[in-house]
Amino acid sequence: MSVGTVKEVQRRVHMTLQVNGEEIDVSFAPYKTLLEVLREDLGLTGTKHGCELGECGACAVLIDGEPLLSCLTLAVECAGRAIETIEGLAQGTQLHPLQEAFADLGGSQCGYCTPGAVMTAKALLDKEPSPTPQRIKEAMSGNICRCTGYQQIVESVERAAGCCRNAEREAT
Ligand code: FES
Ligand code: FES
Repeated sequence: MSVGTVKEVQRRVHMTLQVNGEEIDVSFAPYKTLLEVLREDLGLTGTKHGCELGECGACAVLIDGEPLLSCLTLAVECAGRAIETIEGLAQGTQLHPLQEAFADLGGSQCGYCTPGAVMTAKALLDKEPSPTPQRIKEAMSGNICRCTGYQQIVESVERAAGCCRNAEREAT
């Protein structure tokens, strides 16, 4: 093993991350953001790489149920925390109501902002099943979209909220 390789090995951390309900062992350079580890080390490229400055929301994932910007979060800070990404939303072939609504109502157009927007909306609906349009706009104010004009995103979240409430009622 060359000296360069030894240094590279020494610079890596080994840890277990909990992603979409699975414990995954991963090793990565300690300076990497969660966004980089998800995309480059775990192959979860659904989470998008936008500004990397905390300004666009494309990289939002849920950590312990809260929407956080994975471009501003070091992966080493995520040990023992539940990470949810867009890849974990569908149940087999059954899309999450948010995914269906975004697709049906034009809340997703080029799709680049969509994973971050959907995960942010999921965090909202998990806590507030009946948000007003104003509340949806506030909760998603950090998710920049250059395609939709936002109205379709708000309508998609409202539609999904209704579907989630109906599903909840049917289950009880
Ligand atoms: S890529 Fe993280 S906020 Fe833009
Ligand atoms: S759908 Fe294109 S940026 Fe939002």
